[in-house]
Amino acid sequence: MPLVLGIETSCDETAAAVVEDAGGRWSIRSNVVASQADIHREWGGVVPELASRQHVRDICGVVERALADAGVAWDGLDALAVTQGPGLVGSLLVGVSFAKAAAWALDKPLVAVNHLAGHIESIWLEHGPIALPATVLVVSGGHTSLYLVRHEGRYELLGRTRDDAAGEAYDKVAKLLSLGYPGGPIIDTLAALGNDTAIRWPGTRLTNPDRNAPERDGRFDFSFSGLKTAVLRHVRQRQSELGVDQLPQHEIVDLAASFQRRVVETLIDRVFAAARWHGARSIGIAGGVSANSRLRTDALKKSKRSEIPVYIPRLSLSTDNAAMIAAAGIRRLADGHFAPADLNAAASLPL
Ligand code: KG4
Ligand code: ZN
Repeated sequence: MPLVLGIETSCDETAAAVVEDAGGRWSIRSNVVASQADIHREWGGVVPELASRQHVRDICGVVERALADAGVAWDGLDALAVTQGPGLVGSLLVGVSFAKAAAWALDKPLVAVNHLAGHIESIWLEHGPIALPATVLVVSGGHTSLYLVRHEGRYELLGRTRDDAAGEAYDKVAKLLSLGYPGGPIIDTLAALGNDTAIRWPGTRLTNPDRNAPERDGRFDFSFSGLKTAVLRHVRQRQSELGVDQLPQHEIVDLAASFQRRVVETLIDRVFAAARWHGARSIGIAGGVSANSRLRTDALKKSKRSEIPVYIPRLSLSTDNAAMIAAAGIRRLADGHFAPADLNAAASLPL
């Protein structure tokens, strides 16, 4: 059975995994992630130069660990898959250079994978084949995009954020409240303690066409910068009313809950509306923000009511990992898409 080594270094996680393709059913033999969150935390966000240097330090150990966990030797691999983009170019280059050198030394095929395709395929990796057509929401720190999948491995863009990604909004709001990094999991935890109707945010209306993609009608686009600004205004106003730098804990948890409610409602409304519009038979939700507890429960509740099955990967496959890159690589291998010897990292690689 083909064994594929996946390598992922697009942002601040150095990851390697071995995935086996057992006749179209994929199984994870190992999945190793070295997170750099502790390094970037003190800066309040990912520092690109520090990220690429840390990838250089970690990549050999992470790959060796993935092979050892899988009980596979280098020559037992059938192919390698690596994230080509999108992401931080210095970070991507570490994975791409490592994978090219290893593939050349081993004389094994290499496939280049789009990071977003990896997130989408994490749904198939977790659940196996799902009913098509499917609408898939990829919601992470860098992206908030909605795709229609009519055929496995083919992704049609239905909508995307015009400004901030949902995860980015989480991270910025957490930074504004001095809560720490990454903000998503912290706000998620605090939101559980607060009143989600405590603050009413202004509505978001997207009536103008997308200047970058005028051919799409934009009805399934997202925007989170207005909400981020509303949070900023609210926080500044309360800080000056109370004469404090840090809001009291009960106000922070109410803000976290109200913010989270708005983000989650927006994401769920849009993905279900797109599913209805396109007659989708299933919905997938992937990417770091799909680890959000409210998004998971609310999407599954709505799934029961609307009778459209919703598929979300387990937490370790929601956030950045290399098993999803190996899975997307297996898909591309089957189509004969091999990477050229001069493969380069591509920071803004389109899907
Ligand atoms: O997919 P991912 O690991 O990396 C990118 O490709 O961006 O996503 C990271 C993003 C971060 O913005 C992080 O704050 C967010 O996912 N995130 C969450 C949760 N866990 C991670 N956002 C909301 N709730 C969570 N539980
Ligand atoms: Zn990601």
